[in-house]
Amino acid sequence: MKIAMIGTGYVGLVTGTCFAETGNDVICVDVNAEKINKLKDGHIPIYEPGLADMVKSNVKKGNLSFTTNIEEALQKVNICFIAVGTPMGEDGSADLQYVLSAARDIGRYMTQDTYVVDKSTVPVGTGEKVRQVIAEELAKRNSKLQFDIISNPEFLKEGNACADFMTPDRVIIGSEQPDSIETMKELYEPFIRSREVFIIMDVKSAELAKYAANAMLATKISFINEIANISERVGADVNKVRRGIGSDSRIGYSFINPGCGYGGSCFPKDVQALIKTSSEYGYEAELLQSVEKVNYAQKHILAQKVQNIFGSNLAGKTFAIWGLAFKPGTDDMRAAPSIELIKTLVGNGASIKAYDPKAMKIAQQYYLKDFDNIIYSKNKYDALYEADALILVTEWKEFQSPDFMEIKGRLKGNYIIDGRNQYKEKILEKFGLAYIQMGVK
Ligand code: NAI
Repeated sequence: MKIAMIGTGYVGLVTGTCFAETGNDVICVDVNAEKINKLKDGHIPIYEPGLADMVKSNVKKGNLSFTTNIEEALQKVNICFIAVGTPMGEDGSADLQYVLSAARDIGRYMTQDTYVVDKSTVPVGTGEKVRQVIAEELAKRNSKLQFDIISNPEFLKEGNACADFMTPDRVIIGSEQPDSIETMKELYEPFIRSREVFIIMDVKSAELAKYAANAMLATKISFINEIANISERVGADVNKVRRGIGSDSRIGYSFINPGCGYGGSCFPKDVQALIKTSSEYGYEAELLQSVEKVNYAQKHILAQKVQNIFGSNLAGKTFAIWGLAFKPGTDDMRAAPSIELIKTLVGNGASIKAYDPKAMKIAQQYYLKDFDNIIYSKNKYDALYEADALILVTEWKEFQSPDFMEIKGRLKGNYIIDGRNQYKEKILEKFGLAYIQMGVK
């Protein structure tokens, strides 16, 4: 099939590349010329395991190309995906300007009957708005071309995006048109284990399913963080409580790891957008409001723990930070808990020595560019020199079993403050390290 992918970010680039991998002819388009030029030169603008090799091999085979020219991208295309960003607007709702602008372009430049597939996460009712915009543009040019809107939300996880896309738990197809459903099934067929993976529903339900999934996961995180906060106060150990509840098959272990709050490009904005959509329909989503409130507080908990030990004035103190990305396996720093932490520490006079396997460049260029007193270290141990404490923020694999002797030897102080409960207190004690974790008094 000939596919255009509008938006070449995390989702667009991964989706486009994976469809190219299965033999489709894919053209990825983006308004960001810098991004497209990099891709044309063989540089992948994001870090995602396995992606770079797959992009390169498909470009070489002629299955995958990049452009900033939407008119060129829509030549002879019969499937057009919308995978542009839907960031949080000022009032908390999803900002649909990029989606609707993509829709306008589709209406202006489509050259044959087209399946328009919305992959961006969009509020219920957006499919209808996209339909109207395309229809208006087609009417302006007296075109009789036909199109259908399909909702096909994406569930890939950054850090494992290619693997997730290649072996999806489910593929949701929001459409009531048999030919649209069949076309989507044909496109996804190479990736699915069995036909049950396809879940067919109407467009609105598909749109809501994506928000409901993210809201559920965010709720689990805020729930366990609340239990962690209760554990600390009552003298319980949340690690044990977690085992006690996760062993119940109705609950399970996933997404009940205590931590320093969720970040990233999806959970914060999607929970807010769902709260906003609910209120527009006259419903107060009180549970979801609490999920966000708990998460906001949780993002400040590491800084509070630091200040409980070192006092509120941190002038003259240096902290080693392991992990800047919002989660392991990605260089994405959008809404990362490390940003709030560093803001507070530096704001109170501290210096930072940071190390992250992948996110340091992006941190330096964008997210932490306004902070002077951050040194970016070559490796995890270099970050520890002369530091008063080590603070673990992102649970990258390489932080999971470090050489504690090396840590003890390099740190000036003896504290490890762990925002992800990666270590065992008893082991650290042997090395003379004081261990502060989440949800343990
Ligand atoms: P992103 O910000 O990485 O990429 C979006 C791209 O769209 C940018 O490169 C931007 O320049 C481009 N763009 C904006 N307007 C355009 C237009 N009119 N024409 C062409 N290109 C345009 O965003 P990301 O992370 O890929 O997310 C895209 C959508 O997918 C969002 O709705 C997000 O919520 C959803 N999503 C994201 C996931 C993730 O893990 N990042 C997972 C599942 C869904």
